[in-house]
Amino acid sequence: MTRSTRRVMEPPGAEAADGASAAVRLAGASKTFRGREDVRALDPIDLTVPAGEFVAIVGPSGCGKSTLLRIVAGLVDADAGGRVEVQGRPVDGTTPPDLGVVFQTHNLLPWRTVEANVGLGARLAGIPKAEIARRVPPMLEMLGLSGFAGKHPHELSGGMRQRAALGQALVCRPDILLLDEPFGALDALTRDRLNVELLKIWQELRQTVLLVTHSIAEAVFLADRIIVMSQRPGTVVEDLRVNIPRPRDPATTRALPEFTETAQRLSRLMGVT
Ligand SMILES: Nc1ncnc2c1ncn2[C@@H]1O[C@H](COP(=O)(O)OP(=O)(O)OP(=O)(O)O)[C@@H](O)[C@H]1O
Ligand SMILES: [Mg+2]
Repeated sequence: MTRSTRRVMEPPGAEAADGASAAVRLAGASKTFRGREDVRALDPIDLTVPAGEFVAIVGPSGCGKSTLLRIVAGLVDADAGGRVEVQGRPVDGTTPPDLGVVFQTHNLLPWRTVEANVGLGARLAGIPKAEIARRVPPMLEMLGLSGFAGKHPHELSGGMRQRAALGQALVCRPDILLLDEPFGALDALTRDRLNVELLKIWQELRQTVLLVTHSIAEAVFLADRIIVMSQRPGTVVEDLRVNIPRPRDPATTRALPEFTETAQRLSRLMGVT
């Protein structure tokens, strides 16, 4: 049986209940930022994400969501005592290979073209030039940026810049994608469109995704599972499964009773209603 057929037949999580084949695993991982006044950002977090699962992380502003992603990405060290593993290997202060990150604000270089920016991560990852040249055009095509390959970031709309940033991560073909509110700064319509793009891409590539979002609708539409965090110091207060069948179609998914029920439950958990 191929990986993809197995994924369709088994509920996500079934193969990694023990964490052995987990893409990401945190066990008792906490974080206090030390300074003149210490800031306790995260209380101990236990979280196992099987390969291929799409996980949304929601919680109040300042509860430690970005910190959590930065810990997984090896950009912030967790406190001593906990464990953080990516693909079964401990994260030890360097970004694990096979991991792509898109942050709250894009990291495109203003003096480089869209084409160069989209290939930049791959260049830094040491992927040969010829291979990057093969990968970039179809990626621009997939993200609707083909006509803008030679433009610079300031010549793009906000949504196009975020798409380019997503492309930069995807060109590296990471097994794991960490997305920190990649569409947070965009208007609702552009955001909805990009959600649909992201869903299409994920349905094709089936990477493991950890998406931080403030949007309940985005979380329910995209994710297999939603992690709800408490106020700072953040910890996991709820681990919700989204039982909406895939492939999800934007036109019909949001009208399903399961969508409304999950969104309402999430709103209650987050204290919105
Ligand atoms: N490098 C740092 N040094 C000191 N404190 C930090 C650092 N990074 C984050 N913090 C603190 O840790 C806490 C959690 O911040 P974090 O950015 O993870 O929150 P968040 O949940 O992503 O918030 P938002 O939803 O607003 O993006 C905050 O109190 C923040 O001030
Ligand atoms: Mg954040």
